[in-house]
Amino acid sequence: MLMRRVPGRLAPLLSRYGLILTAALLLYCIFQPAFSASDNLRAKGPGDDQSNVPKGVPEAPDLQAAGVPGQVPMEEAPRREKVYKPAPETYAPIEDPFPWLTANNKLPPILPNNLPPVPHVPEHTPLLIGFTRNWPMLLQCVASYIAAGWPADDIYVVENTGTFRSNKDGKLGLQNPFFLNHSQLKTLGVHVLTTPTLLSFAQLQNYYLHTAVQRGWETFFWSHQDVLVFSDEEVKKKDRDHDYQEDPYATLYERAVGLMRYLNEPDMPEWATHFFAYDHLTLVNRDAYLEVGAWDTHIPFYATDCDIYLRLHWAGYWQPQSEAGLIFDVSAPLDDVGALFRLPGSHATFQGDPVFADPGRPGREVEQDQEREIHAWADKEGETYQHLIAVAERMFEAKWVDEGIYRNTWQTKQSGGAGEPFYRDPAGFEAGIKTMIDAGRRVFADKWGHRGCNLIEMGIGVDDAWRLERDWDVSEGEGHLGGDWGKDWTGID
Ligand SMILES: *[C@@H]1O[C@H](CO)[C@@H](O)[C@H](O)[C@H]1NC(C)=O
Repeated sequence: MLMRRVPGRLAPLLSRYGLILTAALLLYCIFQPAFSASDNLRAKGPGDDQSNVPKGVPEAPDLQAAGVPGQVPMEEAPRREKVYKPAPETYAPIEDPFPWLTANNKLPPILPNNLPPVPHVPEHTPLLIGFTRNWPMLLQCVASYIAAGWPADDIYVVENTGTFRSNKDGKLGLQNPFFLNHSQLKTLGVHVLTTPTLLSFAQLQNYYLHTAVQRGWETFFWSHQDVLVFSDEEVKKKDRDHDYQEDPYATLYERAVGLMRYLNEPDMPEWATHFFAYDHLTLVNRDAYLEVGAWDTHIPFYATDCDIYLRLHWAGYWQPQSEAGLIFDVSAPLDDVGALFRLPGSHATFQGDPVFADPGRPGREVEQDQEREIHAWADKEGETYQHLIAVAERMFEAKWVDEGIYRNTWQTKQSGGAGEPFYRDPAGFEAGIKTMIDAGRRVFADKWGHRGCNLIEMGIGVDDAWRLERDWDVSEGEGHLGGDWGKDWTGID
């Protein structure tokens, strides 16, 4: 029976002797490389038992004797004096960002007006928040979504630390940049998904899409971890469909759900993405992304967003934007995240607050007096909405005051963890990411023949991918990194 499936030309090979010969040859091919590799790895000593090597298997070639290039014997390698870089900057140890949670081990009370709808809305409304470094920033982000009214059970922190089970098993300490407290997230009622290895931004986005496919989510929200969100409690913007007689304001969640329903109405154009405050909070229509081939993982970080949003645009998808509440892009965590729940005794203060840190700030004394008054009030009553917003505005301001100092430092504030599993040098990790960011921009530039996101303005279209010569002056050298990397596609709608 078996013979019949073998193609005619191979059949004679499988005669009795042929079969034995083929099997022997096959076994040899499989095991030969393994034997020679293990041979090379093992230091040979006089008492070394080599009886596990079958007779007749040739000796592994002596690479050094054969003069294989690159195999310089150790004693002949040129020696250079090792020169060390200056010692990396160290920061003061960070403190528990949410002492109330550690002490009480339960979800703090949520303002009645911010409570999520019960029962849950019929649609799936998962919110994915990626995490690689800086636990205080993540906890602040997650806490702000919950305090603003996003159902905790819909929040999925995607742990992308590349430290395998270390966090789940409690093996990393608070000073380790990749530390994340699984039990505290569970206490808040949010889920944690762990990526199998450290993913780039583009890979992480594809992992979100994969997760959405696996779980049957046709749409999902995702958020950056360095944001601080609030529901618009002062109703600066009125939502069309909200019943203000019954309920004083629509929460961030209610408005986001309303927007999703609006986009899914039958006579709306095909849409791919809805941006709330650029992509700080984004609603994704899964199948649109899959249709255009998902994120280009050869552009690992910056510019990969331009690449996909342009491809979605060229494929005819609508990518509108609007507001659902207040979303601040911040560079520092609050000293006490409990302030977001307006817990008495939890204060909305942060390191680097320009009111205290900037001696040249106009009206600084008056502001400092106000801060002291609010401090006394919050000790008894908890923070007020107005003060939280004022502080969040200063946090946003501080992020942009001095781009070099504020913008990028939140990612590198923890510098401990030496000796813990999967330890990586924090500055080295940062350097590796920066190199990959540059590499991604180079890939983008070569893919579209242009250094920058403004492809539409340049008349470049989807069919031009990998077809165009570089449009920049190559005599400038290999500097792919100039160009206009602004978010040019955001005007599209
Ligand atoms: C993680 O959270 C739990 C529960 O609050 C706490 O007991 C534990 O000490 C925390 N782990 C670290 C390393 O901070």
